[in-house]
Amino acid sequence: MKILDGKLVSQSVKDELKKQVDALIARNKKVPHLAAVLVGTNGASETYVASKIKNCAETGFKSSLVRLNEDVAESDLIEAIEKLNNDEDVDGILVQLPLPKHINEEKIINLIRPDKDVDGFHPQNTGKLLLGQPTFIPATPYGIMLMLEHYAIETAGKHAVVIGRSNIVGRPMSILLSLNTNPGNCTVTLCHSRTKNLDNFCREADIIVAALGKPGFLTADMVKENAVVIDVGITRVPDATKKSGFSIKGDVDFNNVAPKCSYITPVPGGVGLMTIAALLKNTFNAYKAKHGM
Ligand code: GUN
Repeated sequence: MKILDGKLVSQSVKDELKKQVDALIARNKKVPHLAAVLVGTNGASETYVASKIKNCAETGFKSSLVRLNEDVAESDLIEAIEKLNNDEDVDGILVQLPLPKHINEEKIINLIRPDKDVDGFHPQNTGKLLLGQPTFIPATPYGIMLMLEHYAIETAGKHAVVIGRSNIVGRPMSILLSLNTNPGNCTVTLCHSRTKNLDNFCREADIIVAALGKPGFLTADMVKENAVVIDVGITRVPDATKKSGFSIKGDVDFNNVAPKCSYITPVPGGVGLMTIAALLKNTFNAYKAKHGM
């Protein structure tokens, strides 16, 4: 069993980006600029956005944060996004999800300029992804593909089971794994809350991507010997031994599943770190496209 080390792989992605940013600075060029929009004070969203900003700084990117109150009027959020859309200095925009219930998430995503949509959530970018055209790939699936690539994991002809059909992770992941690319060329089964006999699909899988947000859901009896297991779960569960009062739990029962796997990602230290590295890569790609590089 080999651990897929998100810390190591994300650092190598960030080191490569930093080198390119340093080269820009040496030529007195502007650096890539990521603008994040955070609505409300959801603890997990606060943590993710803070981490994205910290990683921008470590990689030499400029970042800015637009904070809006939980009860912001939709029209004010729209105005904030339009401002970023029109800001020549901003290369990439991300609106941290989920948004408060009174805001129409789809409307907001549709408003982000596709060429600044570094989350890859805009329908235009989703369409390109489906067609296998170059685009911004949503950061979590992109990060997983970078991880598979880094460890040269054979995927062609393999049966991949993706659990969870979210627009952010499961569905784009299923598309990426099915494309005629490397990594890719999998036979993909996309399982979800209405799937019957989910255990049986999992037991048939060479690769499992668990992205349903249920701590410890994937147990050892659901996993074939030598499977590759990718754990996207990052649920906060109460933990009195932690200063924060919670610990982060993945969707995989790691201790019991890991011994059966050829490769497995840990939580923390796996996919989460790759998500941020992939977001930075998308931001750099937005910068390059804008500057004709
Ligand atoms: N919420 C959970 N994951 C993500 C992500 O990748 N991007 C944004 N914007 N919000 C999220």
